[in-house]
Parts: sequence; C-alpha cells; structure tokens
Amino acid sequence: MNNIDWSSLSFSYMKADYNVRCYYRDGKWGELEIHSSEQVSIHMAATGLHYGQEAFEGLKAFKGQDGKTRLFRVEENAKRMYNSAVGTMMAAVPEKLFVDAVVKAVELNKRFVPPYESGASLYIRPLLVGTGAKIGVAPTDEYLFMVFVMPVGPYFKEGFKPTDMMISRKYDRAAPLGTGHIKVGGNYAASLRPGDEAHSKGYSAVLFLDSKEKKFIDECGPANFFGIKDNTYVTPKSDSILPSITNKSLVQLAEDMGMTTERRPIPLEELSTFEEAGACGTAAVISPIAKIDDIDEGRSYIFSKNGEPGEISEKLYNKLRAIQYGDAPDTHGWITIVE
Ligand code: PLP
Ligand code: COI
Repeated sequence: MNNIDWSSLSFSYMKADYNVRCYYRDGKWGELEIHSSEQVSIHMAATGLHYGQEAFEGLKAFKGQDGKTRLFRVEENAKRMYNSAVGTMMAAVPEKLFVDAVVKAVELNKRFVPPYESGASLYIRPLLVGTGAKIGVAPTDEYLFMVFVMPVGPYFKEGFKPTDMMISRKYDRAAPLGTGHIKVGGNYAASLRPGDEAHSKGYSAVLFLDSKEKKFIDECGPANFFGIKDNTYVTPKSDSILPSITNKSLVQLAEDMGMTTERRPIPLEELSTFEEAGACGTAAVISPIAKIDDIDEGRSYIFSKNGEPGEISEKLYNKLRAIQYGDAPDTHGWITIVE
C-alpha cells in the first residue's frame, strides 16, 4: 500500500523499494544486482567524482487505462547513453543490458507507478559512473551502472501552462565542440548557476544561445526548444544540444498531423516570428513558453498573452500523451509493455 498523493506530485526524489546495479570489472559487465539501499560506496579517487566520467538518462513509464505499464522509447535512451559513454571514454552499457535493467527496475517498483487517472508517471534514472581509482587525468577501467525510479509530476510547476524563460549571454552551457550533445553531468554543472539566476528572477529556465556567436537558439536548461509558425514545426540544429527523444517524437507527430518540420539553425531574431514556442523533454513533456525575455538587450518575445497554450502545442501534447498512456495506437513502435 502507498500513501502517495499521486496528483500533487512534483518532480522530486522519492525513495522506491529497489534499485538495480551492474558492475564493469576486468573488461566485462557482471550480473544485474538488486539493492534496496539508496547508498553507494565508492572509492574517493573514482574518476566519476573527479574527472566527470559520469553520464545519465531519463525516461518514463506510464500506467494505462488497461492497467498495463508502458515504457516510452527505451531503446533510444540506451543508444544515447551508449554515445555518452563513448564520448567520455567509459565502458558502454550494451543496449540489452540497459533495457533489461530498466524493465527490472520498473517491475520491482510496480507499486510506485502512478495510476492512469493521476496524470503522473514513473521517472526512471539510469546512471553510469567511473568507479576505478585514478589520479592522472585518464579514463578508468571500472564502472557502475545503476537504475533507480520514482513517481513524478510536472517538471516545471506550471505543468502544461505557459511559462517564462530568460536569455542571458553571460553563460554557456556547453562548448561548440564539447559535450553538449551527450548527457553528462558536467553540462548540468555548467547550467546550475544560470538556472539559479533565472529562478531568482522568476523564470523557469534559461534559453541558451549558441556558445560561439550568440546568434542562434540552442536549447533550454533541461529541454529542447521548438517554435511553430505557418503550420511548420521548427527546432534548432546544433552540435552542442542534446538530441531530445521527445523532440524527435514531436517532429514525427507533427509530420503525422500534416505539418512541415524543419531542423535548422534558428537565428535569435526569428523568435519574433513564431506563433507558438515551447520546451520539450522527458521531464518537461511540452512546456509551452509564454514569453522569453532577452535580459541583456531588454527585449521580450511573447507567445501567449492569455496564459493558455497554443493550439498546435496542445494538439502535439495530447497526441504524445495519448501514445504514452496507451490511449492511442502505437503506430511508430515506441512502446515497450512491462507488465
Ligand atoms: N536537453 C537537455 C539538456 C536535457 O537534459 C533533456 C532531458 O533529457 C532534453 C533536452 C530532452 O531530452 P529527452 O526528450 O530525450 O528527454
Ligand atoms: C529529463 O528530461 O529526463 C532530464 O534529464 C531533464 C532534467 C531532469 C535533467
């Protein structure tokens, strides 16, 4: 039995019953282990603690009206974590091991999957860390892969209500040829100070510009950006943003709806031409953007005047959620049923 108030969950940590772990030692991955402790014991010289040999993922499981639990595009997360490992010289987690670990973590914590009616979901956090001791800057040969889960509500407190974002040229999230395209902890470390400044000024996130020229839109702190105009879904092409699985799915859904889609550099000035704009990601789902303030130039770009999401953002949101919760057919093969 749970005493969880499902419909008032926010995006925060909660202990579940079990987590799963797998160690890489002597050049190979071991067996999946089941743990109930939230603690990990790690060497003080572990490369994950010093040199950023750390990558993570985020995906969700949804309980349908039929009582089944559905994972959304888990193979895509497996591939992205593989790329993150390659990019930071870590032992890569094979796709099958990744998927098996995620499925096991969900099965073991079934009672934490929020009921269909709540609109909440189970957030799954796979994590890969260098655990071997090194003091010279070099990759280690020991790694720990873990998966833990928790029930969550909306990432931005507004949920599917438009929220405000801020542009500031004071900060970069990732370097042009750096690690922005993989999901490693260092990118998030670099986003903490700008994120904090945004929150203290009343914004939900920073919209980062490209680090080299500050001319193009990159992405939001924890999510990709999209704009909509003339029945076209436009999203940035940039080597320093995370290839969002949600964004890729929205591109497909927009095409299914007969829209044109464009993935290309978006100059900052183009913001003034969008009829709708939003942030998208696993945690954020779609967060419509009400306005973006460019605090350096003292300029605002407004997308929602009445506090409501735009019509197309709402259609995309509903389509995505319907597939995730099993209310609409899974025509693209995005769902893995867990139980
Ligand atoms: N961009 C960043 C920086 C993120 O942290 C995330 C979250 O994973 C995303 C984009 C969205 O990616 P996805 O849709 O795969 O969750
Ligand atoms: C996600 O959407 O899964 C993320 O990783 C975003 C944030 C919580 C880091």
